[in-house]
Amino acid sequence: KKDGFASFMEKEINDQPDAVAQTLLGRNDGNGNLTLDELRVDPEVLKTINKIIVLACGTSAYAGQVAKYAIEHWCRIPTEVELSHEFRYRDPIVDEKTLIVSISQSGETMDTLMAVRYAREQGAKTVSICNTNGSTIPRESDAVLYTHAGPEIAVASTKAFLAQITATYLLGLYLAQLRGNLFQGQIKDILAELAKTPAKIATVIANAGQIKDLAHSMAETRTVLFLGRHVGYPVAMEGALKLKELAYIHAEGFAAGELKHGPIALIEEGQAVIVVVPSPRGRDSLHAKVVSNIQEVRARGAKTIVIAEEGDESVREFAEHVFYIPETSTLLAPLLATVPLQIFALELATAKGYDVDQPRNLAKSVTVE
Ligand code: F6R
Repeated sequence: KKDGFASFMEKEINDQPDAVAQTLLGRNDGNGNLTLDELRVDPEVLKTINKIIVLACGTSAYAGQVAKYAIEHWCRIPTEVELSHEFRYRDPIVDEKTLIVSISQSGETMDTLMAVRYAREQGAKTVSICNTNGSTIPRESDAVLYTHAGPEIAVASTKAFLAQITATYLLGLYLAQLRGNLFQGQIKDILAELAKTPAKIATVIANAGQIKDLAHSMAETRTVLFLGRHVGYPVAMEGALKLKELAYIHAEGFAAGELKHGPIALIEEGQAVIVVVPSPRGRDSLHAKVVSNIQEVRARGAKTIVIAEEGDESVREFAEHVFYIPETSTLLAPLLATVPLQIFALELATAKGYDVDQPRNLAKSVTVE
């Protein structure tokens, strides 16, 4: 069942090009028209939505954070992301014009199920993004958009995460199409870019030798910080979560801009800092800002490990290690940038001799509140 891989997690990381391709399959007609037939919410209702709240836990919530950037950019609908277990207990503002998007690999996470139930009682429309056919959360939602990542066996989520991000892109583009926020040509271009990501993910996996070697050399590391900005921020948090779960190493993901507001005090000689750098071709000064964050931690003695876009030479002089990922648009980059961080955590845990499929204290689906 592991297809010759040493663990389910390694297999599932390698399944990712297919997981993304399967999630994209059959959902557009090639001309920039999205066909989310399964999404049985009345399109007229979707046109009246004035707020989106994404509800999820753990890795799925990081997929939700990526979704926020994409959906707000493409659809101009205010989008909040909230941990399911926090949502219900704060008297949230939810009504018929709120679209709840829950994200759950298992479809059985009790915290998310209870949050969806609560939102539905308040009159919200609920869409479930889920990887498990016929599970409880999709059954209790108005509509479901299945991710087609295939069964995920390893406790730590990998391929489901990339498939979730892919599904939220489709949902965002569908809403933008429906509401006329993007031209058909723009949607077509983004879908064409998305269609190229499976091959690019395969390239990242094929070129992971260096990151594996680095991970094995870091088996004694006590703490690792992850920095990212924009969509790189949830990627950084996901990288940190994978390392905590699998290698039992203290790890934190920060928004790079937050460094000077506190976390930079943690930097001392030898502190490992992994930085997710946005594309230098992106808009605004995002790239330059992150490069200057690398300089800041480097100047204080950090061991800097950088994930950057192929051809980005500007990071080399500040990075002890650079791992390149193929070019893509800023919003789609999480599909690529996450992969080296998953491999890093897998290899570090393997170097420490841990069971990567069944980390201690964790369960695959958390069916208690
Ligand atoms: C992390 C991980 C968990 C789950 C979380 C939500 O690797 O697997 O953080 O993402 O428990 O689970 P689902 O998506 O099944 O609701």
